[in-house]
Amino acid sequence: MDVFSARRVIKEALLQVYGTSYEHDVCFVLKYCFGLSSCWDTTANVDDLWLYRVADDIKKSIPIQYICGVEEFRGKPFFVFPDVFIPREETEDLVDIALEAIPEDAHVLEVGVGTGVIGVSILMGRQDINVIGIDINPLAVVNTFVNARKFDVVSRLQLYHADVFSFLENYLPVNFIVSNPPYLPDGDRFTVDNLVNKEPEAALYGGNNGVDFIHCLLNKLVDMHFHGGFLFEFDDTTRDSLEKHEIFTISRVKYYRDRFGKERFALVWL
Ligand SMILES: C[S@@+](CC[C@H](N)C(=O)[O-])C[C@H]1O[C@@H](n2cnc3c(N)ncnc32)[C@H](O)[C@@H]1O
Repeated sequence: MDVFSARRVIKEALLQVYGTSYEHDVCFVLKYCFGLSSCWDTTANVDDLWLYRVADDIKKSIPIQYICGVEEFRGKPFFVFPDVFIPREETEDLVDIALEAIPEDAHVLEVGVGTGVIGVSILMGRQDINVIGIDINPLAVVNTFVNARKFDVVSRLQLYHADVFSFLENYLPVNFIVSNPPYLPDGDRFTVDNLVNKEPEAALYGGNNGVDFIHCLLNKLVDMHFHGGFLFEFDDTTRDSLEKHEIFTISRVKYYRDRFGKERFALVWL
């Protein structure tokens, strides 16, 4: 099938699911599922059978990142495995903040690596540091390893399949922690769209008001006398609940906005 007709098939499938169809998504599918360098290349052809399979998957509300196995992050194509959290664009801003805030020669822990976009991007941006990455989802650990290999930072990354709360029972030589933790309020599971519900629950929901995971992590860090920075992403509607933790009254805290103007990141010095 020629590219012009293929564009129409993908567009219609996207429209059926999203109610709208973005040019960017059509080109994304043609680029990453069919290897086209340009979605306007009128000389290229697309395999019909494969195209209709992809269109069917789109109509089943499977996110295009799972169908193509890729998401772009800071301009680079990261592999995305099924059942691993799909990176969001605002997390690119978290990486910018981390690259500036992490002290020289720091030992960094990333809690909840997912596809590895944060840890791998930090390692690409800073040659002086090492990262320990952990995730409770074993697929996420493998996904991160594959991306670390792809971007050639695997020698400075240690990966563990672990629950952060038991992992932190052991002494850890880290002085900076970064995380995009599960932070949606539990109640959101009834209102988020179908696409988000295709992602693993443990990656999304952070308790009743969305901050339980972050509070538990802060408790743990206080208990273990952690000394250093903790930079994390949170839901901008939950700041009041977030600040109920006593650490916010006694520690140095800086908030940052994301590219959409939402207060989205906090850096706490413990
Ligand atoms: C919102 S996702 C972030 C993934 C990735 N860092 C990103 O920004 O795209 C949260 C991640 O935390 C992991 N996670 C949830 N609970 C965890 C726990 N108790 N210990 C370790 N990782 C956990 C999830 O499996 C998921 O990969």
